[in-house]
Amino acid sequence: MPARYILNKRLTLAFLAAGVVLVAQTSRYGPSRIWWDAGQTDSLGWDSDFDNPSGQVRISNKNGAVKTEGHPFFAALGTNGRACVTCHQPANAMSVSAEVLRQRWLETEGKDPVFAMVDGANCPDQPPAQRASHSLLLDRGLFRIALPWPPPNVKPDFEIEVVRDPAGCNLSPKFGLAAAHQISVYRRPRMAANLAKLTEGPKGAVLMADGREPSLRSQAITAAFVHEESPRHLTVEELDRILDFETQVYAAQNSDMRGGLVENSGLGVEPLMNGPAPSLFAGLDLGKWKGIHETDLQREFRASAARGSKLFASRAFRMDDVSEMTCATCHQPGTKRLLDIGTARHPQPADSPLPLFRLKHGATVVYSEDPGRALITGRFADAGVFAMPQFRALAARAPYFTNGAAASLRAVVDYYDRTYEIGLSEAEKRDLTNFLSVL
Ligand code: HEC
Ligand code: HEC
Repeated sequence: MPARYILNKRLTLAFLAAGVVLVAQTSRYGPSRIWWDAGQTDSLGWDSDFDNPSGQVRISNKNGAVKTEGHPFFAALGTNGRACVTCHQPANAMSVSAEVLRQRWLETEGKDPVFAMVDGANCPDQPPAQRASHSLLLDRGLFRIALPWPPPNVKPDFEIEVVRDPAGCNLSPKFGLAAAHQISVYRRPRMAANLAKLTEGPKGAVLMADGREPSLRSQAITAAFVHEESPRHLTVEELDRILDFETQVYAAQNSDMRGGLVENSGLGVEPLMNGPAPSLFAGLDLGKWKGIHETDLQREFRASAARGSKLFASRAFRMDDVSEMTCATCHQPGTKRLLDIGTARHPQPADSPLPLFRLKHGATVVYSEDPGRALITGRFADAGVFAMPQFRALAARAPYFTNGAAASLRAVVDYYDRTYEIGLSEAEKRDLTNFLSVL
């Protein structure tokens, strides 16, 4: 075969391969469709449905489709190529799932701006573009949150010491507690949706896992400086547009692969957006969740989710020696409470990838992987206290808890059952998990 022909054939193949790569990267209909890039210019529709492992989540914009071109929530505002949407993805109910991050890592060989070293790595001083440097983000969907210690203008009533530091930042010679007077904890992004009710009222908002941001405005200002490494302050107009967007975008699971559309059940995004939002306290009237042509699978699943909602609202258990509670005692729509349910405090597995701190208050000592609210107030009593997370569109945004330790909704249920000795049967665990997956 003449050499030129072989060369041509090689070139053709190379072009074909390049073409495929090009198509894969620019098409939003392939596997990368799920990912919303900073600066992507199409609009986010009035209603958009995105697949997730158990069905579809719906993102609804109360004020109509949002043109994202040049929109400060969707455009990169800083120096690292990230936008708000980079970590608050529509397909993940305006949070981001660990699975989608892993997919993004493969698609971009770790080069997507979401992996920026500032907080997308275990520590900024680790080798870039290596999986090991980003293990907390890839394994658990956790971003690094660096908080000053002691907090500004606060005299803490406890001492803190780093006991274990597998992620390598709290003992780092450059970013560690001793060197930089800061503490690095690792947290899941919270939902940037359903925020209108959560942030209104005279008491203001309780935002971030430790409640450190009092308003959406202050939150957005900090987010641009920190996550987007913006050298400048956002303008008033940019802030207004971000807040306008955040307070009219809603997210909830809209359909389930087994149960079908959830609309008729009183769940779904519509009542959340236009009210009245269902109370989880009373248990949901999933009895209405009936179709004319129900399949057996649908009937079974719907009945199971309905039983789960009853368990959620009525199964009593004790978290301490004092009071009996149900899941619904705490998980109410719009709640602004800050609570410790032991997620950071209980003895953690020896191979936990998170840092471990010793907190000393007089003769009392506790161990914590994330002191939570105490890092803001400086009060020992706030150790392990977290702001109640939102409770909708859970299926779109695994893993769960601030530390991402529960890989699935079933793992959440197992955590409560194990930690508080609720004594749920296998069937009850399944019912509760099914209920959580349609919220
Ligand atoms: C690098 C990823 C990243 C980027 C970029 C980012 N965020 Fe976040 N966001 C997070 C994380 C992580 C948290 C939770 C932090 C915590 O709990 O301490 C969070 C929390 C929030 C919350 C709090 C929600 C609640 O209920 O407490 C809002 C609102 C929010 N982000 C909006 C924004 C806006 C607006 C922007 C752009 C200006 C932005 N975020 C950019 C990762 C990111
Ligand atoms: C005492 C109040 C309280 C009770 C009772 C309670 N929770 Fe929670 N729940 C919380 C707090 C606080 C968090 C956040 C913990 C964290 O981020 O580490 C949470 C987190 C969760 C999450 C994860 C949400 C997310 O976005 O990551 C789920 C799911 C959940 N709880 C389900 C339940 C179920 C099911 C029950 C009943 C078995 C229950 N909860 C009982 C306070 C409570």
